Amino acid sequence: MKKYVWPLLIIFFFLGGLAVILIGQVVLPPEPRPETVQAISAKWDESGHADAEAEAFVHWDEDDPAEVPANCAKCHSAYGYLDYLGEDGSEPQIVDAAAEIGSVVSCFVCHNPSAHEKEIAYFPSGDTVDTLESSVNCAECHQGTRSGVAVADATVDLTDDEVNEDLGFINVHYKVAGAVRYGSEVQVGYEFPGKDYIGYYPHVEDYQQCVDCHDPHSLEITASDCAACHPAVSDLGDLRSIRVDDTPDFDGDGDTTEGIYGELITVHEMLYDSIQAYAADVIGEPILYAAQFPYWYVDPNGNGEADDGEINFGNQYQSWTPRLVRATYNYHLVAEDPGGFMHNARYLIQVMYDTMDNLSEAISVDLASLTRPE
Ligand code: HEC
Ligand code: HEC
Ligand code: HEC
Ligand code: HEC
Ligand code: HEC
Repeated sequence: MKKYVWPLLIIFFFLGGLAVILIGQVVLPPEPRPETVQAISAKWDESGHADAEAEAFVHWDEDDPAEVPANCAKCHSAYGYLDYLGEDGSEPQIVDAAAEIGSVVSCFVCHNPSAHEKEIAYFPSGDTVDTLESSVNCAECHQGTRSGVAVADATVDLTDDEVNEDLGFINVHYKVAGAVRYGSEVQVGYEFPGKDYIGYYPHVEDYQQCVDCHDPHSLEITASDCAACHPAVSDLGDLRSIRVDDTPDFDGDGDTTEGIYGELITVHEMLYDSIQAYAADVIGEPILYAAQFPYWYVDPNGNGEADDGEINFGNQYQSWTPRLVRATYNYHLVAEDPGGFMHNARYLIQVMYDTMDNLSEAISVDLASLTRPE
């Protein structure tokens, strides 16, 4: 081989490579630039997951010993979630020990080998979901701690309208979006025997998983994404106005322009009225609800309103019948998913409709104008 061939070959490949790069720049669109870690960290920093002062992360700080108990640690401690995953070397799908206090939902909670490989979410009912893709970890914490199965177990074989001192309010727990998304597949609501219920609400293909809608770090929804298909939306405040053309007038108020949120909320209010009527007329002890633990209180003057002094721990409701346990569980479930109108409105309306239908065996409830979702 002649001496000058090598330099020529090198120049040839260099120019060739340059040409490919230049043509690539012109012909092919540039790859979207990934977000920088700084930008991601800044978004996360502003989110609820990073809020080290939040009750969800400081609730156990004054306890003796100051630690997050094993049955709470999965969702309230970074150490607890890593334990649950088995990332700490322990058995997966169970938290073996109480966790240290003082952590939040930090980067490592979602970004570690076990979390990345995870495919199945396990729900309190014993049901599992394996289609959550990279949102699977979201559903492990946003699933509540109880399900309709716990309500069925607690009330089975008891007389519907008999006060029973072994009964009490069953609380699904907070921000249960992950379970509501899957509805009947994970039996998050108390489902009445013999009725059919909706499972997963698919919405549309590109906006199905948690992180299709919620930024995984800021947790926020980008309203302009939704506006592409829902013209009613110009900012986040408008999400509650979204309705599609063929949505029935579920709540029977004659308004077929309000958002699906409006349908859900009216049915929720009707359910509250029926629960109050049932407690007053059948149990003989009027009841109140407030968004404050333990949620259900006695209404001594029976005026249906929370008056001064009525919402306090000492005044919590104590006259539970099986029918009331089921109804209050479903009522509170809807209150505990502020995004329920989006996550699975039809399932929640079904569950509330059937709850009122069941209450109508004991009191008069007018369901004639309502439509049960199919
Ligand atoms: C280890 C448990 C855990 C995981 C995993 C988790 N969350 Fe959370 N999430 C929480 C807790 C606890 C809070 C309440 C934080 C607070 O009160 O500040 C919360 C709050 C939220 C909120 C309310 C927003 C706010 O600012 O309060 C949204 C929305 C949310 N999470 C979505 C998600 C999504 C989406 C994922 C998956 C990418 C996810 N979460 C994964 C535990 C978790
Ligand atoms: C499956 C996950 C999960 C488990 C297990 C769990 N929690 Fe939570 N908890 C949450 C989420 C999510 C929130 C939402 C926090 C918020 O937005 O305030 C929350 C909120 C709370 C709050 C804060 C309420 C407020 O006022 O902000 C308390 C207190 C709490 N949980 C107590 C407990 C206790 C006690 C246990 C154990 C017996 C427990 N949790 C187990 C997921 C869980
Ligand atoms: C609640 C869970 C959760 C937490 C906490 C979290 N992430 Fe993420 N992160 C995700 C998910 C889910 C994705 C998207 C993965 C996908 O789409 O396949 C992601 C994506 C990423 C990416 C790739 C981004 C891209 O544009 O492709 C980086 C880098 C990242 N996260 C870094 C971080 C850092 C740094 C933190 C802490 C400041 C953090 N994450 C906290 C869940 C989380
Ligand atoms: C199709 C879009 C969409 C999907 C998919 C979705 N969400 Fe939501 N989510 C919403 C909307 C809309 C709201 C209500 C926001 C509002 O009212 O401002 C919401 C509210 C929430 C809230 C309450 C936030 C708060 O401030 O209290 C949590 C927690 C939450 N979603 C978690 C999840 C989790 C976990 C998943 C996956 C299992 C999920 N979401 C899937 C759109 C979605
Ligand atoms: C690609 C188009 C598209 C995008 C983007 C989109 N949606 Fe939808 N949305 C639909 C369609 C189609 C339906 C009707 C689906 C069904 O239930 O059959 C729907 C239904 C809904 C409903 C229920 C309405 C009703 O009357 O039952 C809500 C709420 C909703 N979308 C909110 C959102 C939010 C919030 C976002 C942004 C995070 C979003 N959508 C993004 C197409 C879209």
